[in-house]
This record gives sequence, C-alpha cells and structure tokens, in this order.
Amino acid sequence: MSDPIIAFEDVSFTYAGSETPALSNIDLAISEGEYVAILGLNGAGKTTLGLCVNGVVPHMLGGELTGEVRVAGLNVADYAVREMAKVVGIVFDNPEFQMSQLTVAEEVALGMENTGVSYAEMRRVIPEVLAQVGLAGFEERTPLGLSGGQQQRLAIAAVLAMKPRVLVLDEPTSNLDPVGKQDVFEIAERLNREQGMTVIIAEHEVEVVARYADRIVVLDQGRVVLNGPPKDVLSQVERLTELHLRPPQATRIAELLRDEHHLWDGPLPVLAEDAATGIEAILGRSA
Ligand SMILES: Nc1ncnc2c1ncn2[C@@H]1O[C@H](COP(=O)(O)OP(=O)(O)OP(=O)(O)O)[C@@H](O)[C@H]1O
Ligand SMILES: [Mg+2]
Repeated sequence: MSDPIIAFEDVSFTYAGSETPALSNIDLAISEGEYVAILGLNGAGKTTLGLCVNGVVPHMLGGELTGEVRVAGLNVADYAVREMAKVVGIVFDNPEFQMSQLTVAEEVALGMENTGVSYAEMRRVIPEVLAQVGLAGFEERTPLGLSGGQQQRLAIAAVLAMKPRVLVLDEPTSNLDPVGKQDVFEIAERLNREQGMTVIIAEHEVEVVARYADRIVVLDQGRVVLNGPPKDVLSQVERLTELHLRPPQATRIAELLRDEHHLWDGPLPVLAEDAATGIEAILGRSA
C-alpha cells in the first residue's frame, strides 16, 4: 500500500493551561482518497484532531504536543499554517464567523492572496470553485447577505481555491437546515469521488456517516476507541451505547427484531435499504 497521506504516530496534545490531554496516544493512518468520519461526544477531541492536520495545533494554539503528525509527507510541526493551507483546507461549523470580506469573490481570493497566487490565476479560479459549490455568478454578492447554507458552501469554495489534497470538515452542517446539510454532504461526496480528495468530517449524523464514509473513527476522551468501516463500527450497538453514541435507526430496528422478536439473524445493517431487504426476507419467510 502507498504511504498514507495523513499519519498520526503516537500523538498526544494537551492545551496550555489544561490538565487533561485533548488527544492521547493517537495512531491513525489515512490513505489518499479516503472519506473518514470522526464521531465522538462534545470534548472528545474531534476539532483538536482536525487542527493537528492543518497545523493550527501546535502553531497557533499552544500546548504540549508529543508524537508526530505527517501530512503529505510533511511533519506538521515543521511547517507554517500558511504552508499547510496549500495541502489541507478546513471548514468549521459556524459559516458566519468564517466570512470576513465584502464580496464573495474577495472571500474566495483571500487564501490565494496570502500565498501569492497571480491575479490572472485568481480570475480563473474564482468562478471555477464557485461553480463547484453551486454559487456560480455570486462573485459580487455580500457574504453576510447569503443564507447559512450558501455561506458554508462559500467557505468550502474558499478552501477549494487553494487546491488542497485534504478537506477537513468540522461539523460543517450543524447550523444548517436540512437542505443546506444535504448540499454540503453532496459537495463533500462529489469532491471525494470525482476528484479523489481525502475528506475528514466530524459529524454527529450517523445516518449520513453510514452512507458516505469509507471509515469511521470514534474518539472518546482523546483516544481512538473504534476505527473501521461503517458496517463494522455502527453495528456495535452495545459499544456505541456505552460511549453514549446513537447507532443508525436502521441498526436499532434490526437489533429490536433480533433481541425482542427473534426475527433477525446475521449482521446488523447500518443503511435503511439493507434493513428493508432484511425485513422483506422476514416477511417472505412468514408468508
Ligand atoms: N483552545 C482550547 N484551550 C484549552 N482547552 C481546549 C481548547 N479547545 C479545546 N479544549 C479542550 O480539549 C478537549 C477536546 O476538545 P475538542 O474541541 O477537540 O473536542 P470536540 O470533540 O471537537 O468537541 P465538540 O463536539 O464540542 O466540538 C476538551 O476537553 C476541550 O475542553
Ligand atoms: Mg469540535
């Protein structure tokens, strides 16, 4: 197998002034083109993990970092956040806070200006990335006048302008309505599938994660406690319950059919359509 694009090797991090580590002994390798979802309760370390990938930890948020984080072969501790931004784009949960410019075009151009991209190149890239997020023609609009969903798509466009190989989405839909959420998930899925972009998403919606992710990493108190394909991780109902995480509805239904009604055998599904197929088989048996 080729070298992972992201490698955490025995990484621990404690924020300055804090007693307890935000991340403890993280070993995690992510291959280029993987779509990895991070699950975990508030304070589990999801954001801190993402900030290690783009170098904000340890360069801008101080604390004690041990172990090594390598992204695209670069030891993050040795490169400025500005350099890492060419490889890793990050989008946070509150789109409004990420907007700082008067026009959409300027918002997209900001990162490129900081890294010395030519004006001609910017003129070419801006409409291209706006089109990718469904905001074609929005160049002269005011970011603060956009809907939350549009702002979040603009934040993604601004990151795409830097042509990153890795996209980190930190609960990108938690402030959006259902349509806005769906738009963001579809964009992430398309970037992953069509452009092979590596996607890391911290996300609470297990149904979404079950459908899109290649792999799920569950964090608990700064440690990786589960790590595997959605069908393996999300079907561990008891373990998830211990961790105070909710399994997908499809999994719960199959579990009830198994435990309460003795009607389900075999592995528990994580997708609704797989639960439906199983239920169809049960109905066929009883007919
Ligand atoms: N800037 C900071 N300074 C000090 N401690 C912090 C800082 N940011 C986070 N922490 C602490 O680090 C731990 C991990 O926090 P982190 O924000 O990474 O968790 P999270 O999984 O993203 O949580 P949430 O779901 O609430 O976003 C928590 O104990 C938190 O209190
Ligand atoms: Mg967070």
